[in-house]
Amino acid sequence: MKRKILITSALPYANGPLHLGHMLEHIQTDTWARFQKMRGHECYAVCADDTHGTPIMLRAQNLGITPEQLIADAKKAHEQDFAGFLVNYDNYGSTHSEENRQYSYRIYNALKANGKIANRTISQLYDPQKNMFLPDRFVKGECPKCHAKDQYGDNCEVCGTTYAPTDLINPYSAISGATPELRDSEHYFFKLGDCEEFLRSWTSGRVNVNGNDRLRLQEGAANKLQEWFDAGLNDWDISRDAPYFGFEIPDAPGKYFYVWLDAPVGYMASFQQLCDRTGIDFDAFWNKDSGAELYHHIGKDILYFHALFWPAMLEYAGYRTPTGINAHGFLTVDGQKMSKSRGTFITAESYLRHLNPEWLRYYFAAKLNANIEDIDLNLEDFVARVNSDLIGKYINIASRAAGFITKRFDGQLAADLGDSGPLAKLQAASEQIAGLWESREYSRAIRDIMALTDEVNQWVDAHKPWEIAKQEGQDAELQRVCSVLINAFRILTVYLKPVLPKLAADVESFLNIAPLTWADASTLLTGHTINVYQHLMQRVDPKNIEALIEENKQSLAPTSNEPAAAKPDYEIPEIEPVINIDDFGKIDLRIARIVNAQHVEGAEKLLQLTLDIGLPETRNVFAGIKSAYKPEDLIGRHTVMVANLAPRKMKFGLSEGMVLAAGGDGGLYILTPDLGAKPGMRVK
Ligand code: 2FM
Ligand code: ZN
Repeated sequence: MKRKILITSALPYANGPLHLGHMLEHIQTDTWARFQKMRGHECYAVCADDTHGTPIMLRAQNLGITPEQLIADAKKAHEQDFAGFLVNYDNYGSTHSEENRQYSYRIYNALKANGKIANRTISQLYDPQKNMFLPDRFVKGECPKCHAKDQYGDNCEVCGTTYAPTDLINPYSAISGATPELRDSEHYFFKLGDCEEFLRSWTSGRVNVNGNDRLRLQEGAANKLQEWFDAGLNDWDISRDAPYFGFEIPDAPGKYFYVWLDAPVGYMASFQQLCDRTGIDFDAFWNKDSGAELYHHIGKDILYFHALFWPAMLEYAGYRTPTGINAHGFLTVDGQKMSKSRGTFITAESYLRHLNPEWLRYYFAAKLNANIEDIDLNLEDFVARVNSDLIGKYINIASRAAGFITKRFDGQLAADLGDSGPLAKLQAASEQIAGLWESREYSRAIRDIMALTDEVNQWVDAHKPWEIAKQEGQDAELQRVCSVLINAFRILTVYLKPVLPKLAADVESFLNIAPLTWADASTLLTGHTINVYQHLMQRVDPKNIEALIEENKQSLAPTSNEPAAAKPDYEIPEIEPVINIDDFGKIDLRIARIVNAQHVEGAEKLLQLTLDIGLPETRNVFAGIKSAYKPEDLIGRHTVMVANLAPRKMKFGLSEGMVLAAGGDGGLYILTPDLGAKPGMRVK
């Protein structure tokens, strides 16, 4: 029976680079989706960037760009990382999309019509300088319990106490430094407490998938939920006051949906884009009576949102609820939390610069299971498993057999495999291995597949094709033995293909066959001509791992949004002769806002900038930054200018100052002041 399946990964935030912790989940999802597609099911995987909220708004301000620009850049970077890791979403969307606005409104309006939305006034800390309410994480102060300084508004990192931001001693805004004041504001709430009966039965419910009856949630998740029910379900505050980057709530000017309200709706919105592009029937997957399966892969830290808020929202807005919520644990590296100082907080992009993505896909598969346990990336074990299992056991089968087939038989496989050795056993394992992929017991699937490769290798050692090759009159036997091995390799490739899609594609061209599906495991290749074997995969060189760790140690500033930089490959110029403070004081540097930027006709290197430095008149500056910036990307940004430089007459007009930029042969970067700096402020 052909199943309809929709699977998602949690939507990554659009304000930072992806790291290996993200990739664990995306690889898990991708592997499963590829498996289902190979089985012939109608399976789709979708994801999107999670783009709304205060951190993204402030980060964009900080960079002097619009949030739209920030999220566009992040999406590009994320999509590149996914492509690099062979993670193939049928659609990768954004929560800042028209589709998401529509579905968020539809769900909100339905919840409201169902009496599930309430509003009431609450008091919250407000930054009088920045003119905004402060999320808990943006208030800092002294811990009321242990008196540690500079603790966040939700909990103390020193003594672990949790509290309200209003409990902090001498609180201050982490954005402006101002002392926050309490102000009232009307907020909108989703009445989660009203959904308790439904949620209790939903979370403890069973589902029937493909003839198998099982619990909807993992055991570890069900326990966690019990704790939450025991503690009581609180109404959920789903609104935030302007300024906020998000969707304005219908009929509530100045009020926005909290980022977590529209984030999961992004699953629907992304799928809608896929439907619009391909003609898939959206309703067949999301209607209340839909027979399709819907799974969300998430990290254990966001279970509350996915196992309580999300199903309740769907239920009371009239949609179907998920078939399963598949939570996984965190990724540790060498047994410890990923750490920037140890270099184990590894970005996806830097991994790809040093190592083969399929090594990590294989390693993660070898460690993942259906539980919520943490997964450890042990770097020594990584090298050992890839080199001795993947290359030594599996790839080796092809390399041992292919040469003889090419050189002695013109690429042709035997027409009759005779006593076909381990092939029957390999084929018989098909459903057992499929069952393990299906139930997300990846590590057991890999273990079973590797046990089969062991059998094949034992059979090679028993039959010794390299000795048969030396014997007179044994051509047919040599061709048969090598053909059995090629067939074994082909079947193992079917089983590994969900994890190793690029390698499988290379095997398909080597074997001169159509893309492998699961059903191909039950057939054999005989009398068929294969292509010349080319080495399919390199071994890991531990030196590359050292280089990767070293690079991540050096280059990751705590809030860096840029891809990790490689070792300096540019000149560091000599320091100029010493000046005194008075010399420096003569240079009048000011914060400038770029109100306009445009190309200059006939100028190869220049852009014309119009700068606001807080005075009634703007300044006109020609800057040699055309090679590095598009004018539209500069408009609205803040930078620093030399405001008392003698005006200079140029071919194109008068230049009234200079903007500061770093550069040389390593690129060109204009300066951006920290958040809060305003046009005209002096820089000293
Ligand atoms: O925790 C996170 O990284 C969130 N951006 C996940 C959102 S998942 C979904 F609900 F959108
Ligand atoms: Zn404390």
